[in-house]
Amino acid sequence: MIGPMTDHGGSSLLAASNRGPLSFTEADDGSLLASRGGGGLVTGLSGLGSSDVVWVCAALSDGDRAAARRAPGGRLDRDGHDTAGVAVRMLDIDPATFHRAYNSVANSTLWFIHHLLYAVPTAPNFDAGFRRDWASYQAYNGAFADALASDAAPGARVLVQDYHLTLAPRLLRERRPDLRIAHFSHTPWAPPDYFRLLPPEVARDTLLGMLGADHAGFHSPRWAQAFARCCAELLGAETDDASVTHDGHTTRLGVHPLGVDAEGLRERSKQDDVESRLTALRRRLGDRKAIVRVDRTELSKNIGRGLLAYRELLRRYPQWQGKVTHLASAYPSRHDLPEYREYTATVQRMAAEVEDEFGTEDWRPIVLDVTDDYARSLALYRVGDVLLVNPVRDGMNLVAKEVPVLSEDGCVVVLSTEAGVADEFGDDALLVNPFDISGTADALHRALSMPDAERRERTDRLAAAASALPPADWLSDQLEALSEAAVSR
Ligand code: G6P
Repeated sequence: MIGPMTDHGGSSLLAASNRGPLSFTEADDGSLLASRGGGGLVTGLSGLGSSDVVWVCAALSDGDRAAARRAPGGRLDRDGHDTAGVAVRMLDIDPATFHRAYNSVANSTLWFIHHLLYAVPTAPNFDAGFRRDWASYQAYNGAFADALASDAAPGARVLVQDYHLTLAPRLLRERRPDLRIAHFSHTPWAPPDYFRLLPPEVARDTLLGMLGADHAGFHSPRWAQAFARCCAELLGAETDDASVTHDGHTTRLGVHPLGVDAEGLRERSKQDDVESRLTALRRRLGDRKAIVRVDRTELSKNIGRGLLAYRELLRRYPQWQGKVTHLASAYPSRHDLPEYREYTATVQRMAAEVEDEFGTEDWRPIVLDVTDDYARSLALYRVGDVLLVNPVRDGMNLVAKEVPVLSEDGCVVVLSTEAGVADEFGDDALLVNPFDISGTADALHRALSMPDAERRERTDRLAAAASALPPADWLSDQLEALSEAAVSR
């Protein structure tokens, strides 16, 4: 299962993220079962076909910790695991440090800041407890920097991912100035006035941490510009649209809007598990239209206002009663955080209210599923007439890109202007302000009423935009940009 520590002279390409490409569960007989995660980075790295990649990530579960301990200080052997051809080094960070870094700082603070999620009259509250959590976040980023520094060959390229690891680029540069470091944010970046909610030293260290990178990538120009403005206003850095210079070091900014691997996705969506769910969904729908949505049960996804908009649609456009079903999949996420547990309960309650108000003996207006079933999601992608994607703010939103690729009869995308993907889709989607419930209800009505030919044409254009930068190209673009940035530094 887990191989011995490999004797290596250092890798030339390294990736680092909180959640890696593998997760482990311990079976009753003590053996470890590995499963592979999805995501653009996994697909992108597998497209590179390099045999010399190491992926550093955190051990997230007891199974992961057991796996990490069986390969002390070393890398999990890639043999026998479907790891996109990369070796994985899982860091066994002590649970209290991990909890504070991941739950308290990354997911409850930085995620909230970048998605503008605070109800500011009562939160955030940065007290002594937060300072302790921040020290854990520093230690967690330090553990990544140590592992990357010890595994990297001279001049190696390192791809650091996301808000969990904003300090790592700088910490790594201090340890290994020879390395070429890229950071990629899969989230939005907060505008300066909101970013200033962070305590001054935390805001400053976060920006300085990111500026340790030679290249900082984002999904949308909006997020790249917001980052540059934060650096200019809070650090006095010199900035333009393409770079930030501070303290004699330049970080190039890049916009790399991750797209979908259309062929791989189509292939996956034709497998038996999807087909059987599709048959069941079609039976349930009959000749009714389907409004679908698929999200993590995530505060920023704005599922609640989506349900209010659906309710208003049925009230103001009663001709749709009995003629449409809302198939909403909201799979569990971050349930260590009380806000997320409460949110799931709220979404369930709101769906039940819609059901109570409109349901009849032979019509269920809404079917909410809160289990994680990827095959069912793909079946929803194929069958939906309308897709609702209405996040309050979203780095990209890949569901909006996957649905047009898989849609069988064409699917109208009702899309928040605040999702990164809106930059690419523009008016081929029906754009809505995510806070405007009436506007969203009107857009749902327009989507349901759209003539077949127009729906099909729009879907084709969306599918083309969605697959413009598939994961392999997304990754090679970043590597190219990193080489250019590093040469000019
Ligand atoms: C977002 C983040 C990812 C994260 C994912 C799931 O897409 O950008 O970095 O892995 O959410 O969140 P989780 O907390 O379950 O890893």
